[in-house]
Amino acid sequence: MPELKPLHAGHAPAVLAFELANRAYFAASISDRGDDFFAQFTGRFDALLAEQEAGICAFYVLVAEDGSVLGRFNLVRIEDHTAELGYRVAQHAAGRGVATAAVRELSRLAAARHGLRTLRAATSRQNVASQKVLTKAGFVAVGSADPAHLGGKKGTWYQLDLAASSVRKAGRRPAPKS
Ligand SMILES: CC(C)(COP(=O)(O)OP(=O)(O)OC[C@H]1O[C@@H](n2cnc3c(N)ncnc32)[C@H](O)[C@@H]1OP(=O)(O)O)[C@@H](O)C(=O)NCCC(=O)NCCS
Repeated sequence: MPELKPLHAGHAPAVLAFELANRAYFAASISDRGDDFFAQFTGRFDALLAEQEAGICAFYVLVAEDGSVLGRFNLVRIEDHTAELGYRVAQHAAGRGVATAAVRELSRLAAARHGLRTLRAATSRQNVASQKVLTKAGFVAVGSADPAHLGGKKGTWYQLDLAASSVRKAGRRPAPKS
């Protein structure tokens, strides 16, 4: 069973292999990372780990039984109990519910492990697969996203209220507001 694991230094080679193998696939729907990302991979990876250590971000990798990376799921810009969610799944694993299951799991961890109350994610209008992932995981559209945030594309912000979603999962009705 693939496992969602917090990113650590030992994941570097598998993450690089994942990003290289899927570069063209990702670039068809989101901004390409650029040549510098690959040329300076080690330094950038170390910088990510430092950001994670500082509590600004929390990075996760979905690791297959053979140690390869199937997907990356990240909580970034953590502030005021809110974070921005980003994700990408390997082309060979696409269309099997991998992203939806991992986003659901990370939403649970976001509240339980990181003390978050709200997750936000922006996706372009063309990225129907990502919109489906978000809505299946309980996110709702809350407004237009600045194209500068989406590599110049028009898009939408989605939001998940983690407290409300845990109440729904527990099958309880929310307490009446006093
Ligand atoms: C978006 C992405 C993470 C989805 O990963 P995934 O594991 O294939 O997602 P899931 O299988 O959980 O769900 C995808 C849904 O989109 C649907 N889908 C996939 N491609 C589609 C397309 N081109 N048009 C319409 N629907 C599409 C699938 O059928 C599925 O819906 P269903 O369950 O109703 O059948 C993956 O395509 C990816 O990494 N894309 C590039 C990076 C990216 O766009 N990241 C998101 C940035 S906001």
